Amino acid sequence: MSREALIAVAADFPDPFRLLIRESVESTNDEVRKLALGGAADGLIILAESQTAGRGRRGAAWFSPSGDSLAFSILVRPEEPIALWPRLALAAGLAVAEAVEGLGLQPGIKWPNDVWLGKRKVAGILVEAGPDFAVVGIGLNVNTTEFPPEVSEIATSLQLEMSRPHSCADVLAAIIRKFATRRHQIGSDFEILISAVRLRCVLTGHRVSLRTAAGSKIGFIEGIGPSGELLFRTPEGLERLIQADELRLLPD
Ligand code: BTN
Repeated sequence: MSREALIAVAADFPDPFRLLIRESVESTNDEVRKLALGGAADGLIILAESQTAGRGRRGAAWFSPSGDSLAFSILVRPEEPIALWPRLALAAGLAVAEAVEGLGLQPGIKWPNDVWLGKRKVAGILVEAGPDFAVVGIGLNVNTTEFPPEVSEIATSLQLEMSRPHSCADVLAAIIRKFATRRHQIGSDFEILISAVRLRCVLTGHRVSLRTAAGSKIGFIEGIGPSGELLFRTPEGLERLIQADELRLLPD
C-alpha cells in the first residue's frame, strides 16, 4: 500500500472526511474511539497498514495482513437520533458494494453488511457506538492472496476475483465518496438507502439457517422490511430480525 497514494487521494476527500495513517495498531476502531472521546470532529478516518487485533462482529477476529488489505475506521457524529445509528452499518455496506461495482464487479450484500463476491466474503463492517458518536470500521480484502485456514474457504479479495492488483488508495477514495452520500440516508431518506440495499441482497428468496442462543432455525428470507429488518419466514410465521445472529445461506 502506497502512503503517497493514500495522502494524494485524501486531499480530494469530500468534507468533512480527513485521513490519518498508522503503521500498526491493535484495532482502528479503538484508535478512532479514543480520539472521539477526546473530542475529534465528525469525519476523521484512521487507516492502519496492519492491525494486530482487528475484530469483527460477534467477537470474531479480523485478519488484516500488512499492506494488501484496507482496514480503516470512520468517526461519525450523526445528526439523526441514536435509534437510527445501527442503519450506518447498512449505509457502509452499501458504500463498499457500490465502490466495488465501480471496478466492474457485481458484489452482493449479505444482510446486514457483509459484502460478497460470488459466495465469498470480500468485506466486513463493524459499527460500534460511543456516548455521542459511532465508529464505522471497514475491512476490505484488496490484494490479499492467502487467508488463514479458518477463513480460506469463505473469503476472497478483489485481486483474486479480477486476477490483477488494485490501488488501495483508489478503492478507499471510492468508498468514502459513496459513504459521504449514503450516511445521510439513515433518516428521512432511508427508503432510498434501503431500496439500493434490497437490489443487492444475496439472501432474498433463499433458505437460510439462523443460529440464536435458543438453537438453530431454518427459514426463508422474503426480503428486507421498511426499517431495514430482515423478513425471515418459518412455519411458525414471519419474524422481523433487527440484528444479525449467525445466518447461513443454505443450498437451494
Ligand atoms: C465482520 O465482518 O465481522 C466485521 C469486520 C470489521 C473489520 C474492520 S477492519 C477495520 C476496523 N477495525 C477493526 O478492528 N475492525 C474493523
